[in-house]
Amino acid sequence: MSGPVSDLGRARDESGEVVAVEGLDGGMVEITARLPHLAATARPGEFAQLRAWGGVDPLLRRPFSVAWTAGELCSFVLEAVGAGTRLLVGLRPGDPLQALGPLGNGFPLDPVPVRAVIVSGGLGCAPFPLLVRELRRRGCADVIVLSGAATASRLYPAARFRRGEDSVRVVETTDDGSRGRRGLVTELVADACDETAAVYACGPNPMLAAVARTLQRLARPPRRAHVSLEAPMGCGFGTCLGCALPASGGGWFLCCRQGPVREVSEVDWPGLLALPPAHVA
Ligand SMILES: Cc1cc2nc3c(=O)[nH]c(=O)nc-3n(C[C@H](O)[C@H](O)[C@H](O)COP(=O)(O)OP(=O)(O)OC[C@H]3O[C@@H](n4cnc5c(N)ncnc54)[C@H](O)[C@@H]3O)c2cc1C
Ligand code: FES
Repeated sequence: MSGPVSDLGRARDESGEVVAVEGLDGGMVEITARLPHLAATARPGEFAQLRAWGGVDPLLRRPFSVAWTAGELCSFVLEAVGAGTRLLVGLRPGDPLQALGPLGNGFPLDPVPVRAVIVSGGLGCAPFPLLVRELRRRGCADVIVLSGAATASRLYPAARFRRGEDSVRVVETTDDGSRGRRGLVTELVADACDETAAVYACGPNPMLAAVARTLQRLARPPRRAHVSLEAPMGCGFGTCLGCALPASGGGWFLCCRQGPVREVSEVDWPGLLALPPAHVA
């Protein structure tokens, strides 16, 4: 395998309890659960395989980024798009939640602070509250979040990216102009980047491909750029091979173990966009 590989030795299967379920605008839900191991070990960009149902329907756990940790608590941001997420957003405080994690390789972080440009599309917001906190903890003074969504109600609230880190700038775009600048969030990337910046992006794969195209064209490309990718996931730990994505230069990488975070140049973007959408049992 090439690229950083997830350390499965840190993952644990734990049974927790939901402590809060907050409905945000536009159908997004933030679920907070007592999951002491995951809370103590998850790094920005890592994920957990969640299950909140018995029986075999749905059969598989579902992957979700760890959005926040506080003490023994972990939060996840999601919305109902299918069978598994419908069950998760229907959870109530006191319900059990099973989590296998942390999984995945997470975002690489510079030992010395550099400017950080975070590009978030829709539910791609999920890994970024934790990343913002870690960047600020490491002394990164200049953190900007470019946050885009189709319409105002689908924007993740700026205050939730910041969570008390008031110096973090959040610039919003909406496709329909209902809040912030009208247009696609990717249109802001070129102006926000120069060779001093590190870029972190998460959102639908076509959005990430647009970020990659933009960065390729820059005269002063960022010092590095990483994207967090989506793939259909069965196991989440490298066994089922269901999450293979095309690598630049040929071959494949496993999104669950050599991802979900990849350096932007490591991805075969046309190949990725040609894949059929995820269908998970
Ligand atoms: C590493 C990783 C982290 C993720 N983090 C989050 C998160 O923090 N919040 C969030 O809301 N979603 C996240 N997702 C996507 C989430 O896992 C899927 O939306 C979820 O598994 C769908 O399950 P379902 O049973 O509700 O839908 P299904 O009935 O299985 O499918 C419904 C729809 O969701 C799509 N889908 C299914 N599985 C995936 C998948 N693995 N990735 C993308 N789309 C999928 C299908 O193509 C279909 O359109 C993440 C995915 C990955 C791979
Ligand atoms: S999800 Fe099974 S190998 Fe990646």
